[in-house]
Amino acid sequence: MSPAPVKLGLYIHWPYCARICPYCDFNVYKAAGADSGALTDALLADLDHWRARTGPRPLASIHFGGGTPSLMTPAQIEAVLTRAEALWGIAPGAEIGLEANPKEAASFAGLAGAGINRLSLGVQALDDASLARLGRDHDAKGALLALEAAQALFERLSIDLIYAREGQSPDSWAAELSRVLAMGLDHLSLYQLTIEPGTAFARQAERGRLTPPGDDDAADMYALTQDLTTAAGLPAYEISNHARTREDHSVHNRLYWEGADWIAIGPGGHGRLGSHATGGRLATEAALKPADYIARAASGAAHDVETLSARDEAVERVLMGMRLVEEGLDLDALKSLTGFDVDSDGLALALSRGQVRRDGPRLILTPQGRIFADAVAGALAP
Ligand SMILES: C[S@@+](CC[C@H](N)C(=O)[O-])C[C@H]1O[C@@H](n2cnc3c(N)ncnc32)[C@H](O)[C@@H]1O
Ligand code: SF4
Repeated sequence: MSPAPVKLGLYIHWPYCARICPYCDFNVYKAAGADSGALTDALLADLDHWRARTGPRPLASIHFGGGTPSLMTPAQIEAVLTRAEALWGIAPGAEIGLEANPKEAASFAGLAGAGINRLSLGVQALDDASLARLGRDHDAKGALLALEAAQALFERLSIDLIYAREGQSPDSWAAELSRVLAMGLDHLSLYQLTIEPGTAFARQAERGRLTPPGDDDAADMYALTQDLTTAAGLPAYEISNHARTREDHSVHNRLYWEGADWIAIGPGGHGRLGSHATGGRLATEAALKPADYIARAASGAAHDVETLSARDEAVERVLMGMRLVEEGLDLDALKSLTGFDVDSDGLALALSRGQVRRDGPRLILTPQGRIFADAVAGALAP
């Protein structure tokens, strides 16, 4: 039996936000203004360029991320989807997802009409004081109303929450998460607050004006998250992502963790195509600044493209694959795609510490290993 063809996804980065949140280090810019139409034209030109490089392969998923792609107009979304369909074809039942801010709830019907079939809604917190501290432009009531609107319009829906926030105790997180779990959603993304270098939160922390919970409290909140979500039937299937069933997983995010192929257009988008076994894995990075991206896309040169070394590809496949909680990393596939095994000393140590287990060709983090997921995966990298 020949192996299943590698899936191909499309990521579109919309870099504009109504305002910039103090914790965020994504490639974001305040307000699109007059650039919005030019950026859409650039996205379409960029799609033409990538079709010439990938050849005909149906798209398994399309994801509009950001930034705040819920600021795109339905016509802009439709233009991208129409071009993608004409160039590659969109596989039947493909996931077409978009990251939305609650503030744009009034435009959700238009987004659904344009073809979005999965929404991830940036709720972040359920109380007004936390939302204000996170610099959000919505309150808790607005988030719940947006959620209600989204539930009526999108068959597939997830919300993002940030925990281990300043002033949050394990008890208050347990109460907040229990409220969310009672809503009966099928997918949740639960992120521990990271103080990213260069953000406003990092500057506040340096000056002693922001004190996130200590390591012990953060570890307790992580443990509570696993216990409460598992008890509610939404266990983690990836470090920060929880779903009720396999069908509820994010198809698009799985492409990253499984090491499939994806084209990434829009300012700062990172794509991956191919493998060492098929002549090399391309790593693509689009120009960061919208003006540069727009200027370069017209000539088909909006991206820096390099071929990863087989070792770098293997490292990336280990770091991403180990994030999948149930399946872990397929060691046979790693070897046949890149020629590399995981590091033998790192493997022996992780096995002796009970941080990973073997299941046939697969290497899977244990609950104990998941707490130190990044460090364990780093030690396994060849
Ligand atoms: C690219 S953001 C976009 C979503 C959308 N613009 C919004 O803010 O709702 C994706 C998610 O990453 C999470 N996130 C961003 N920065 C984070 C940080 N420093 N720590 C933890 N989670 C973060 C947030 O939950 C956010 O919803
Ligand atoms: S968290 Fe979302 S809305 Fe806030 S700056 Fe980042 S991408 Fe924009």
